Amino acid sequence: VERVFSGVQPTGNLHLGNYLGAIKRFVELQKTHACIYCVVDLHAITVWQDPEELRRHIREVTAAFIACGIDPKAHIVFNQSQVSGHAELAWIFNCVARMGWLNRMTQFKEKAGKDRENASVGLFAYPNLMAADILLYRATHVPVGEDQKQHLELTRDIAMKFNNDFSASISAAGHGEGYFPLTEPLIAGPATRVMSLRDGAKKMSKSDASDFSRINLTDDADAIATKVRRAKTDPEPLPSEEEGLKGRPEADNLVGIFAALADTSKSQVLADYGNAQFSTFKGALVDLAVAKLGPIGAEMQRLMGDLSAIDAILADGAGRARVIADETIRQVKDIVGLVRS
Ligand code: TYM
Repeated sequence: VERVFSGVQPTGNLHLGNYLGAIKRFVELQKTHACIYCVVDLHAITVWQDPEELRRHIREVTAAFIACGIDPKAHIVFNQSQVSGHAELAWIFNCVARMGWLNRMTQFKEKAGKDRENASVGLFAYPNLMAADILLYRATHVPVGEDQKQHLELTRDIAMKFNNDFSASISAAGHGEGYFPLTEPLIAGPATRVMSLRDGAKKMSKSDASDFSRINLTDDADAIATKVRRAKTDPEPLPSEEEGLKGRPEADNLVGIFAALADTSKSQVLADYGNAQFSTFKGALVDLAVAKLGPIGAEMQRLMGDLSAIDAILADGAGRARVIADETIRQVKDIVGLVRS
């Protein structure tokens, strides 16, 4: 069976990159796959979070999933810490993955910065927990933005090493060739890496100090308009072909955002807006972004008015996730040789 899993950290400021690179794709995959979408709160605490804020952000990501069109009845929506299997399998993967593999992770290097001695052990082991998230459900496909590519390669390495280290035990238990699947990343479309609106060389991110660098899912029409109009550009009009975006990162970014929001391609956008001035193009982009994001922000706000309803969705999703997760944990314990009752 094909199963989709993906996760979003509840660390605040969900933005257009999270939406176009991930959540919008989560919504599309519901038509063709059984999907599990997780608010990864255990990942969030790899850097310190204010407890009150963390609680709010967990519910806000849940509200965003639903406001964007994820159906929590037909699929599974829950927060990671409610299913203990994530932490249990992550420990086993801590013992499968090699120090050298994790030392190569560029996201750790970026997040830990210069003061690596002072980073949490959890931040270092983060990719093992991510592999556990995915493989706990033996997910075959994982939709993510470009920045998660290396973590998904590590997930495959862990699956392969586990399958190999325990191959005799796996076939003795009747699981056939390998126990864990080699998960495929789904990284596609015109917005797999949405860049900052202030700097075409920087990724749009939750943690950028400037709020003008990103469009938040909760921004109202005025904020969206101001941010798009202030977005950095170059003085030339838009090219009429994709080739002409080379060396123009800000133009490339805005065209990619437009294409993703309009469900079309960059070349189609350039066929429509080639030779237009940025003032014209930005006007059209504001209208499009407000039309697409306005209803999402409004619905998030409405959902956040009833936190007990959100918590009920998370509890229901966790219950259904646990059924799958517990079975995997039982089988993994048997494969590894841990005695259970
Ligand atoms: P996170 O919370 O940083 O981001 C959530 C999703 O948004 C994507 N994304 C972007 N896509 C395009 N342009 C951007 N500027 C941009 N910024 C973020 C991310 O690629 C991601 O898909 N480690 C993950 C969370 C995670 C996970 C998992 C994902 C934990 N376990 C298992 C998949 C499967 C993360 O930090 O995402």
